[in-house]
Amino acid sequence: MIKKILLMDLPGQFKFVEKEVLPKIKEVLKSGRYIMGPEVKRFEDNFAKYCHARYCIGTSSGTESLYLSLLALGIGEGDEVITVPNTFTATAEVIVLVGAKPVFCDVDPNTLNLDPKSLKSKITKKTKAVIPVHLHGNPVDIDEIHRLCKPKKIVVIEDAAQAHGAKYKGRVIGSLVSETTCFSFHPVKNLGAFGDGGAVVTNNGKLEEIIRKLSNHGREDHYFHSMIGTTGRLDAIQGAILDIKLKYLTKWIKQKAKLVKYYRKKLPNVCKFIDTTKGGESSHHIFAIIISERDELAKYLKGFGIETGVHYPTPLHLQPAYKFLGYRVGDFPVAEKYANETLSLPLYPHMKKEEIDFVIEKIHQFYDK
Ligand SMILES: Cc1ncc(COP(=O)(O)O)c(C=O)c1O
Repeated sequence: MIKKILLMDLPGQFKFVEKEVLPKIKEVLKSGRYIMGPEVKRFEDNFAKYCHARYCIGTSSGTESLYLSLLALGIGEGDEVITVPNTFTATAEVIVLVGAKPVFCDVDPNTLNLDPKSLKSKITKKTKAVIPVHLHGNPVDIDEIHRLCKPKKIVVIEDAAQAHGAKYKGRVIGSLVSETTCFSFHPVKNLGAFGDGGAVVTNNGKLEEIIRKLSNHGREDHYFHSMIGTTGRLDAIQGAILDIKLKYLTKWIKQKAKLVKYYRKKLPNVCKFIDTTKGGESSHHIFAIIISERDELAKYLKGFGIETGVHYPTPLHLQPAYKFLGYRVGDFPVAEKYANETLSLPLYPHMKKEEIDFVIEKIHQFYDK
């Protein structure tokens, strides 16, 4: 009898790597080197390789990765940065933190990713950057975004917090031609630390140098600082853990892809799915269905111990924190509609057949009532 099904089973995933991780943590603790150092360097090299990118800078979080990218690109007061409203607050938060203005554009009703047509309508002389989000791990139409941005010298910073291992036209996210690609290693991500962590990936050596310096208080030498920076570094323990987990990332994404295929085949017809972008391969960070009775279904499933999620229930332009931007209900109809209709279902690489079957059975039961 199944009592509980988590949205993402982190304790279960820990069991899978426990034998490798625990001795490694002990080794790092004994070394006395807890910040940056060889563990972080090894992971940075391996993650850059995984992303087919030249450089990787480990950071303290996905938020910090985005923030440092904006700082390094000199974006600040008087600048506008375009992004989507159906994302985690960090994507827009960092724009405000560097002193620039977030400008939202609507999303495509099929992929729920940035809609290039809406993006085009929001570009002004003040637009300095665009931050597209690979939502749920589904890649954005990055070629189309670059086609709009390049001629106007607008930089592109990819928010790949949810997209480790996703692909666009056969190329892994991080290897594309954007200025930087920003990853989060928050524990729930496909590649998650046991705490906070992030990375910036870039092919631009100058940007790598600046971001690395900014992430370490603008240090040239231990107490000699040439820039104003932050404590934006990745911890040694997290670097060591991530390096172990990176070996399994491709396998875990494949396992999730199989489960998503099964969900899609077995769920009732009333459940609609989010389209994968043309030429894209999702990393399946999240599997969400679209249904009008979202809250009722979530409540029904909870009654059977099935945890679900909503990514995200309130679009950013309607959040109190962004009230100062002056947006109103109705400004981004697609993002608003799907904020009320998407439901994320349990998904983790080692999810058992009886677990996924239980979720599917209960969703059928909800509609057969
Ligand atoms: C789309 C998106 N952007 C940014 C972030 C921020 O990442 P972090 O939580 O590592 O700061 C997250 C993670 O939660 C995210 O999902």
